[in-house]
Amino acid sequence: MPEKRHAAETSETPVADLRRAVHVAGPRLGVFGREIRILEEVGSTNDVALRLAEAGAPEGTAVVADRQTAGRGRRGRQWFSPSGAGLYVSIVFRPPDLERLTLLAAVAAAEALDEVAGLLPEIKWPNDLILREGSRRRKLGGILAESSAAGRTLEYVVVGLGINLRPAAYPPDLADLAVSVEAATGQVVDRGAMLVALLAALGRWRETVGAAGPGALLARWRDLAPTSEGALVEFDRPGGRCRGMTAGIDEDGALLIRVGSQLERLVSAELAWL
Ligand code: BTN
Repeated sequence: MPEKRHAAETSETPVADLRRAVHVAGPRLGVFGREIRILEEVGSTNDVALRLAEAGAPEGTAVVADRQTAGRGRRGRQWFSPSGAGLYVSIVFRPPDLERLTLLAAVAAAEALDEVAGLLPEIKWPNDLILREGSRRRKLGGILAESSAAGRTLEYVVVGLGINLRPAAYPPDLADLAVSVEAATGQVVDRGAMLVALLAALGRWRETVGAAGPGALLARWRDLAPTSEGALVEFDRPGGRCRGMTAGIDEDGALLIRVGSQLERLVSAELAWL
């Protein structure tokens, strides 16, 4: 079998792999394949997708880049996005059913990783993709959902996904916390195939939820997120740092945590495992 080579080792442009994959598979992806912008460098793919959405881009419009110079993570953090090291993609969603999109994206990304790389990550609430090896847990990917200005009816949501595909020179504070597909499996992962599998999975779940409601999606998310029930965690809340036992997610994707005799409902927080 011919050895797979990275774009950097050939004379192709850095996004030739993505263009090829989209050219071949795009037409069978339906809504999630009809408008895919492939760029070499952007500040943040979320910013480009938000601008396109504001200008009226339809559901399924996707923006993917080889590298980001200002990739954003949750809670104002930077998302380290060097050339070719990850899949950096943002997708526009429009009503109806704009709830639970981060759950949908996490399930779709986990299934795409399983399909293309044989690696099924766990989901850590709200939407981190985690690889667990024994007691060690490292982050394989993350999701950032952003939308139109607050106070107006929600017209669109942009869901940005970052998946670590190749080892990279992570900043020291991330080096022990992040892992890539290639580091975990020893295999070069096909970034174009990963993009196509992800868009196909998003389309599949969007259709399922649209036709039958969120039941199957919530069940699949719970399967993939074993620590969302019965795990001892710590988190910050207005009264200070707090310790409790996870007790599942509700229909809206909020996390329930038993703290003493109370059941807390978290809509957004950063959990630390104990
Ligand atoms: C997290 O903090 O876990 C969320 C990370 C989300 C990163 C992705 S990469 C593509 C898209 N563009 C961005 O600037 N952020 C998201």
